[in-house]
Amino acid sequence: MNKDELKKKYKNKIKEYLKHNKFYFDKSKPLITDSEYDELKKEILLLEKKYDFLNDKNSPSKNLGFKASKSFEKYEHKIPMLSLSNAFFEEDLKNFEKKIFNYLNKNINFDYSVEPKIDGISASLTFKNRKLTYGVSRGDGKIGEVITENLKTIKDIPTEVKSNDFPDEIEIRGEVFIKKKDFLKIKDKFANPRNAASGSLRQKNPEETKKIPLNFIAYTFGYISDDNFRYQSEFLMALDKWGFQTNKDNKIFSSVSQLIKYHRRFEEIRFDLDYDVDGLVYKVNDLNLQKRLGFTSNAPRWAIAHKFSAYSASTQIINIEIQVGRTGALTPVAKVKPVNIGGVVVSNATLHNEDEINRKDIRIGDFVKIERAGDVIPHVIEVDKKKRTKDVTKFKFPLKCPSCGSDTIKEFNLVSKKYDAVRRCTNDGYGCEKIAIEKIKHLISKEALNIEGLGKKVVENFWELNLIRKPQDIFSLNYEYIINLDGWGKTSVNNLKNSIEKSKKVSLQKFIYSIGIRHIGIENAKIISDNLKNISNFIKIIKSNEFDKFLNIDGIGQTQVNSLKNFFSNKLNVKIVVDLNNQLKIENKILNKNGILKDKSFMFTGKLEGISRAEVKSLVEKNSGITLSSVNKNLDFLVVGEKPTKKKIEQANKLGIKIISLKELKKLIN
Ligand code: IVH
Repeated sequence: MNKDELKKKYKNKIKEYLKHNKFYFDKSKPLITDSEYDELKKEILLLEKKYDFLNDKNSPSKNLGFKASKSFEKYEHKIPMLSLSNAFFEEDLKNFEKKIFNYLNKNINFDYSVEPKIDGISASLTFKNRKLTYGVSRGDGKIGEVITENLKTIKDIPTEVKSNDFPDEIEIRGEVFIKKKDFLKIKDKFANPRNAASGSLRQKNPEETKKIPLNFIAYTFGYISDDNFRYQSEFLMALDKWGFQTNKDNKIFSSVSQLIKYHRRFEEIRFDLDYDVDGLVYKVNDLNLQKRLGFTSNAPRWAIAHKFSAYSASTQIINIEIQVGRTGALTPVAKVKPVNIGGVVVSNATLHNEDEINRKDIRIGDFVKIERAGDVIPHVIEVDKKKRTKDVTKFKFPLKCPSCGSDTIKEFNLVSKKYDAVRRCTNDGYGCEKIAIEKIKHLISKEALNIEGLGKKVVENFWELNLIRKPQDIFSLNYEYIINLDGWGKTSVNNLKNSIEKSKKVSLQKFIYSIGIRHIGIENAKIISDNLKNISNFIKIIKSNEFDKFLNIDGIGQTQVNSLKNFFSNKLNVKIVVDLNNQLKIENKILNKNGILKDKSFMFTGKLEGISRAEVKSLVEKNSGITLSSVNKNLDFLVVGEKPTKKKIEQANKLGIKIISLKELKKLIN
């Protein structure tokens, strides 16, 4: 390649890198995997290293991440939030230590503070006079975004610290993340737990953040007014005492060989932890030594991240099949020659969607690299094009649903103004076999009716045998017939009977979730249930087509309303709800009905001093009041805080709605 060609190649890679930054950091919707992204970065750095005429101000060598987004207030970090250099091999660690010795000009003994590197999003919390005053994202390391209210919704983050020895001013840094078990509940919305955390943290409305259970583990400080700590481990202990969460797997070691031993052990147990880790961080424990060592242009000399390898293996694609999901999504799955990846035999790997197949040019017969990380479904990372033979065949993505033959579509997303990458079957329910089976599996799942004796395999089997075709059928099963089936007997049938009987008593919230309406997950089902309080109200709305009533519920938006409307436009779905209501004992949402705010409705605008939206809402609800999300004739009180929306006040005035302050609201409640 001549110089011009090299420059062109380099520029293209930078362009690609910027594009993925945007999708990853700004939209929280990455197009490529973390390892592909790392690979791209590595390629750019390698080119720069080899050819010193190649450089660009946007190169990863000069950038730490992606700029803060436009929609949040900016905040310049008092002390930059830098990243860590990575180590992959023993050799890298030895080099790291050698550089420290060189820098200090001495081979000295020191301890390392060893901390699991949680794969989340870092955040900075500034406390002044013991109160949390600023919560900021990392941004590009220099300038972050003010996300205080969002961070305050995280239960691990104290908003006030009472300990006597807490510094007058301190910036505490740590990782915001979502636990694996919590991610499973929302896995359809985000590519991975890290994206879930970042997407949730960057919501404009803290109420949205609150819907996703985030956690915070503290691990370092930025600015600190009285800095009397001598050791990182001492600081971690103080954090613990002050009421922050620290990692229980933090350790102290004093040699590289001990680090490697711990890394090996940790790499094995990491899949059993309830959070995602992508390595261990080693920090020189002595803070004076840290100060002396200082930083290179973008990373400290006193710390390094020792990464874990994601498990990967090579195999061949035998076929590509389409799976139809509960919401009609058509997911291409590669059937591969079974291969052992990190102790698990893998024979399926997801290809995500049609665009992904085209982008990576994946064909049947191709040799591919597959990665498996944690509980996530294995996926194809890349095609080994060198091994490609003439026999490979291009996969033609079906335009008709392979299960029921209906047309399929890619929906237009009104928010992103783009067509979905996912193609969906247009059959809206039980008319498509695959969708129907998935809907029933959803209905019996743990978070829904939780019918233990009726697993996914049993549902498939009962479908085949024509025993279950609709949700209602579960409650009128022919047990005399089942008892004689292969693999069934008296005990197992009794267990099944009992668990079905037990499942009949169900909360309204779980019931709404179990129906399996798109965009009505656990959280939205709870919001609807809290608001409607009993199943009759729900049935009234769906029977009379008054879906706009849902729009009045704070937290339910147009997307959810459209989905509800669409779902119940199929009268079979209305019938299912009505029939199930006759078979089940759906419990009313029990609330204090006779509180002081009984029959009164409230709406809030502007910042309310000293209380979060969530808290004030629950305060109103505890006293039997309701909260609305728009100013209309049903509203009784508009509670106004700092910087309210003028239009809401104007509307309220026009409709003669009482406008009150937080103080006045508190007075009403006493
Ligand atoms: S120390 C300059 N400690 O890793 C010191 N970082 O690549 C940098 N991380 O942005 C932070 N666990 O998001 C530190 N125990 C830990 C960490 C940790 C996870 C993340 C953090 C940071 C990134 C650095």
